[in-house]
Amino acid sequence: MTGPARLMRKVADHAHDRWHGVHTGGVRATGVEDGHRCATLSYRDIRAILRSAGLTADDTVLDLGCGSGRVLICAAALGAARAIGVEADAQIAAAARQMTARARRVGGVMDVVQAPAQEYPYSDETIVYLFNPFGRETLAAVLRAMEARGWPAPGRRLVYINPEWAEVLRAAPWLEMRSEREIGEHAVQVWAACEP
Ligand SMILES: C[S@@+](CC[C@H](N)C(=O)[O-])C[C@H]1O[C@@H](n2cnc3c(N)ncnc32)[C@H](O)[C@@H]1O
Repeated sequence: MTGPARLMRKVADHAHDRWHGVHTGGVRATGVEDGHRCATLSYRDIRAILRSAGLTADDTVLDLGCGSGRVLICAAALGAARAIGVEADAQIAAAARQMTARARRVGGVMDVVQAPAQEYPYSDETIVYLFNPFGRETLAAVLRAMEARGWPAPGRRLVYINPEWAEVLRAAPWLEMRSEREIGEHAVQVWAACEP
């Protein structure tokens, strides 16, 4: 991306944040073991990614490692029935809770759970969003937790952005890659779940 394009994107994201009355940008370090730093994508890219997963008004979006909640705001604004964020870092989870409570011009229900993703009680979420939030071991533990909770079912999707550990998903017999494309400057994989 060129310098002027990057600047335009920053300005657009700032305007979106102001429109919703929130502040969801920036990069923050976290102390979460095997976790990646807190960062987010542009509103435009997040919307395109959620659409690429086929988001409808029947979907519940689960953002694992939700950072300050921008994905939840986008999912709710796009009409998802519900958007849930899971965040292990206590301060970041508190910020996400504050942002989603404050967000204006957004329908739908948004919730933030402070927990490690590998301990979340997966149930009826239909789209799981992963912006490369953690390393290999945690991703493998998350897939084991999903399977143990009976999460895999037809129609459920997992979106993996910057798929550094795609091999972990490839090794799960209940996941099948449906598409892989570039959105903005990011590789985005959509995986479909089936009965294990
Ligand atoms: C790259 S940011 C993604 C932010 C958000 N999903 C977005 O796209 O706007 C990764 C986040 O995952 C969180 N994280 C890392 N490991 C985690 C874990 N095991 N469980 C829950 N959250 C975790 C980090 O604290 C960080 O806020």
